Amino acid sequence: MEIITDILSLHARLKKESCIAFIPTMGNLHAGHLSLAKIARKKASCVVVSIFVNRLQFSEIKDFNKYPRTFESDSKLLINENVNVLFAPHESDLFPLKQEFFVEPPLFANILEGEFRHNFFRNVATIVLKFFNLIHPQIALFGKKDYQQLKIISAMVQQLNLPIEIIAGETIRTQDGLALSSRNLYLSTDERSKATRLYQVLLEIKIQVESGSKDFQSLQNKAREILKNRGWEVDYIALHQRNTLAPAQANVQDLVVLGAARLGNTRLIDNLEISTKI
Ligand code: PAF
Repeated sequence: MEIITDILSLHARLKKESCIAFIPTMGNLHAGHLSLAKIARKKASCVVVSIFVNRLQFSEIKDFNKYPRTFESDSKLLINENVNVLFAPHESDLFPLKQEFFVEPPLFANILEGEFRHNFFRNVATIVLKFFNLIHPQIALFGKKDYQQLKIISAMVQQLNLPIEIIAGETIRTQDGLALSSRNLYLSTDERSKATRLYQVLLEIKIQVESGSKDFQSLQNKAREILKNRGWEVDYIALHQRNTLAPAQANVQDLVVLGAARLGNTRLIDNLEISTKI
């Protein structure tokens, strides 16, 4: 694996590659990222992973500063997955000038995560587009764990005619159901033992909807209550349509239930796709 930190060397290394699969990350890699690398390895002759903690997408500087940076162990994990190139640019290389052009995402960027993180998806879409322009991948992989991000990047690729196939990787979970995330590191031992509750309430909604329940409002309310009664601060538990992320409707087949809630100081997000028969 080659570790590349500057744009000129990146271009020189990639110019003869005809099938590049790209996985953007902020590092602190876990089995979720590695599962994307495994899919990428099967699909492309050259696998590129980026590690870049994107300051733009943090609303608070203290969150940006405390984001775990584990470059040494990340690189070892990527070598084991036979990744060809690890691109870890310096901030000054990616942003030689103040970033004043942004990708304006569709309105569904303002709901769910977008309601709680101002301009978050604008800033994610912008950095991802910058990476696409630098790497020119044929394939790019994103995890379903960040469901809204996946949908926004897919819409960007479609609407801006980018010649890139987006592949979605399944969420990887611990044995008790907790979705893998870099943020899990912030949980205390006690919080960790309770953290799986978010997955459990989403799973209960999935089971109820797949068995025919159409009373989405009361399912959502009940899940919120369960979490609140156990000390969580809930941002949202909401059923939406998978592709458009429009609110769920009883006559629509492919749904997803998404949740975000805070346990102590740690904000966790998760989601489950739901398949209903009309
Ligand atoms: O999902 C992430 O880790 C980030 O949002 C991404 C896609 C690497 C952009 O910074």
